[in-house]
Amino acid sequence: MSTGQSFYITTPIYYPSDLPHIGHGYTTVAVDALARWHRQAGDDTWMLTGTDEHGQKMLRAAAANGVTPQEWVDRLVTESWFPLLRTLDVANDDFIRTTQPRHEERVQEFVKALYDRGYIYAGEYEALYCVGCEEFKPEAEIVDGTGAFEGLKVCAIHSKPLELLQEKNYFFKLSEFQDKLLELYKTEPDFVRPESARNEVVSFVRSGLKDLSISRSAFDWGITVPWDPSHVIYVWVDALLNYATAVGYGTDPAQFERRWPAYHVVGKDILRFHAVIWPAMLMAAGLDVPRGVFAHGWLLVGGEKMSKSKLTGIAPTEITDVFGSDAYRFYFLSAIAFGQDGSFSWEDLSARYQAELANGFGNLASRTTAMIEKYFEGVVPPASEDTDGDREIQRIVADAATGADAAMERFRPDEAIAAIWTIVDALNGYITENAPWALAKDPAQRPRLGTVLYTAAEGLRALAVLLSPFMPEATQKLWIALGHAGRLQDQPLREAGAWGVLVPGTSVNGIAPLFPRVEQA
Ligand code: ME8
Ligand code: MG
Repeated sequence: MSTGQSFYITTPIYYPSDLPHIGHGYTTVAVDALARWHRQAGDDTWMLTGTDEHGQKMLRAAAANGVTPQEWVDRLVTESWFPLLRTLDVANDDFIRTTQPRHEERVQEFVKALYDRGYIYAGEYEALYCVGCEEFKPEAEIVDGTGAFEGLKVCAIHSKPLELLQEKNYFFKLSEFQDKLLELYKTEPDFVRPESARNEVVSFVRSGLKDLSISRSAFDWGITVPWDPSHVIYVWVDALLNYATAVGYGTDPAQFERRWPAYHVVGKDILRFHAVIWPAMLMAAGLDVPRGVFAHGWLLVGGEKMSKSKLTGIAPTEITDVFGSDAYRFYFLSAIAFGQDGSFSWEDLSARYQAELANGFGNLASRTTAMIEKYFEGVVPPASEDTDGDREIQRIVADAATGADAAMERFRPDEAIAAIWTIVDALNGYITENAPWALAKDPAQRPRLGTVLYTAAEGLRALAVLLSPFMPEATQKLWIALGHAGRLQDQPLREAGAWGVLVPGTSVNGIAPLFPRVEQA
């Protein structure tokens, strides 16, 4: 068991009404990289992902496919959502499905507790609902339809008509939490990140909170309201609770105590649910609020938010089949500033694959190990006297390790990779400058040749450790090529920048290109 501090991190639980696309993959690999980083640093890490299986969206998808909602979610989860995790090389600790009894029973218990505490009341409701969002839409997100939807009110996110719903509902007294939430954002300035997301949330809450409808009676695909079986619990209340039920809320106090509270990473489309409604629900129940909510931006395709409902969805396997899972992870986590929107294009992906992975990192690994094989019979030579240039590499490695850890603490995998990449660039420059192939021609330069190749190999050792949370597969190959015994994941991450870990005399192995040339159709 790990003794480090607790680090519990979650992805949203996705709607398995449809197939996963690269947007779901984006959040998931970001969370996985953060979790792997903390795990390898010795923190008591837990990564949760899962699926959100109730609600009207699911009911309609199932009906459209002529099966029951349970059959539909079982099929989609088994055939598409579990495999997504393997496709992207994700090392989650748990996967929660909201149709599991461990979840459903605890949701009822939680909602009943709020009811008993006086935070829930019955009322009448009439409002415009978006089934895509599973949300009664606020005024600001209702726009006039165009084209086929001319004359109708549509959702600003989904561009689909809203439905006027009129029901007797149960309401959660969200309005009572306005001041407490504003106080939370003030005392914990990092509660919502990045800054732009925080500002949006603060101004939304300042403008006033309405009570939240938390039950539906027009359909029954959901968790029954415990005191009124003619209602099911609103799918978002059900869904948000996964973060607590998955770590033993109400069933395993020791596990809950150990893990909770969590960090939530979400797309900005669902920020308000996580940064407003969820902490208010927890406050009402007398539980700790999350440690923080980080909202990343949207992947844009052709300038629009990529989505299945708009038929711009790209399956993650379209990318991994050609470039592999490491390239997928690296590309999305390095090319997009985490927290901002980013445009996806095949051209950009190909160009970065070639320049940064194949020519930058991959080539550095191949030529360093090849030269050790050629000039030192595959045995890592000792370093002799250091020059300023050698010490500069040592300094860059130390700074990169510190900088990357700080960036990961800020939830900025893109900045962490940028910090680590200073090692790749510096070593490639160092090899060109020191020209080992020229040194090799002069027997008097043998000690110098040893120093240069030791420096390159030791830099690669640091790269393997620092990049392993981002590219588990390639770094594992590199680790083996560098002759290392033991598991790469066990290398203490926060000490990766210390110099001199690679022991001279270690045997290296030749390495096939880490990022082979791809032929694109
Ligand atoms: O909202 N760019 O599920 P969902 C970036 N079940 N990320 C994207 C994206 C895009 N174009 N499209 C989707 C739900 N995502 C609820 C969540 S949590 C208690 C319940 C990612 O299947 C991003 O993380 O619609 C976004 O927040 C999430 O998928 C929405 O997934
Ligand atoms: Mg969605």
